[in-house]
Amino acid sequence: MKSISIGLLGLGTVGTGVVQIIKNHQDKLMHQVGCPVEVKKILVQNVHKKRSVDIDPGLLTDQADDILLDQDIDVVIEVMGGIETTKDYLITALRQGKHVVTANKDLMALHGSELLTVASEYGCDLFYEASVGGGIPILRGLVDGLASDRITQMMGIVNGTTNYILTKMTNEGRSYDEVLKEAQELGFAEADPTSDVEGLDAARKMTILATLGFSMHIDLADVQVSGISKVTDEDIRYGKKLGYTMKLIGYAHREGEKVEVSVAPTFLSHNHPLASVQNEFNAVYVYGEAVGETMFYGPGAGSLPTASAVVSDLVAVIKNLRIGVNGKSAVSPQYPKQLKEDSEKYSKYFLRIRVQDEVGVFAEITTIFAKFGVSFEEILQLPVKEHETSEIILVTHRASLTNYEHILQELRDLSAVKEVKSTYRVVRK
Ligand code: HSE
Repeated sequence: MKSISIGLLGLGTVGTGVVQIIKNHQDKLMHQVGCPVEVKKILVQNVHKKRSVDIDPGLLTDQADDILLDQDIDVVIEVMGGIETTKDYLITALRQGKHVVTANKDLMALHGSELLTVASEYGCDLFYEASVGGGIPILRGLVDGLASDRITQMMGIVNGTTNYILTKMTNEGRSYDEVLKEAQELGFAEADPTSDVEGLDAARKMTILATLGFSMHIDLADVQVSGISKVTDEDIRYGKKLGYTMKLIGYAHREGEKVEVSVAPTFLSHNHPLASVQNEFNAVYVYGEAVGETMFYGPGAGSLPTASAVVSDLVAVIKNLRIGVNGKSAVSPQYPKQLKEDSEKYSKYFLRIRVQDEVGVFAEITTIFAKFGVSFEEILQLPVKEHETSEIILVTHRASLTNYEHILQELRDLSAVKEVKSTYRVVRK
């Protein structure tokens, strides 16, 4: 078989890793696919910029068409990021009969379905393993490894920045602002951390996971999102007292034919497998009806980890080329989308409120919970913080989201409740 020519779109952190792996693992690649693999052209913004990797300058171009329209290029690897222009490039590449590997979760979460349709029309592969969980082979784990099973639940720590921040807040008792600043200085958090800390990055990844895991086309807009910017070190400390660890959890659950997908700061009981995932690491917990509990753990970002997933996709494309089955492996969703109503979404909740410290207040609070049929699993009353007030922390038994929102509204309307300080979903093992 002739050598396989790659066109690389982008030579940043991940692109550099791809070049390194293709070079350093050439023997392994040859053994896997039976032919040499070479990078023929690389699209960059500035062909004169100094690079951290040894590259023949003749490979660099600032013209996308040098790759997209080159008849000799078999596979386009997209590691440049971006959405609209990048989507146009990939559609052009697919229409030229080129297979595509992308690490771009933003693009796949928003336009994955359209791109996969174009790929299948043109008999091309479009693989995107690196888009979720960096180096963790979670997408193949879901699609191939668990192909025979019916997945009912996925819970993911799929954003390294927020896991790093929450880990430091938990272990060192420091504030969100302080840890975020340090994470930015160390390069763990972006200068503009909004999409990470507000949960959007995780929501995009959960869109991809839920679509594949539930075989149902889930849109980004279907994911209920809240981030970690309002989480306080006090919340984390009180949670700890009750045996919980705070994590930003992407939660996808199927009951019957209906699903829910969300991203929210969540208290996990200390014995939950995800509670011990520290720092910038990612993990996805998957529950299948047959297999039971599984967990996929590893680095969610970084040059070589992400590049390893990209190059593994490349290997899959070339193996398909050898047996002539490109464009046939993407399975279209089996089920029409059916989302749960709020009244069908159940959870336990942690609630922290500041109340007037006087006789009968607790009775008023419990009356509201009883009215909506929700009982308590744990109660903690804290010493008086401000004059004649005290803080109460409650952990509820399972409540529907609808009922819980009614409860919150009625509590806010109660004159004895001075403030609803925070509330989080709780998941116990
Ligand atoms: N910003 C992402 C994170 C990088 O913090 O996990 C990987 O998608």
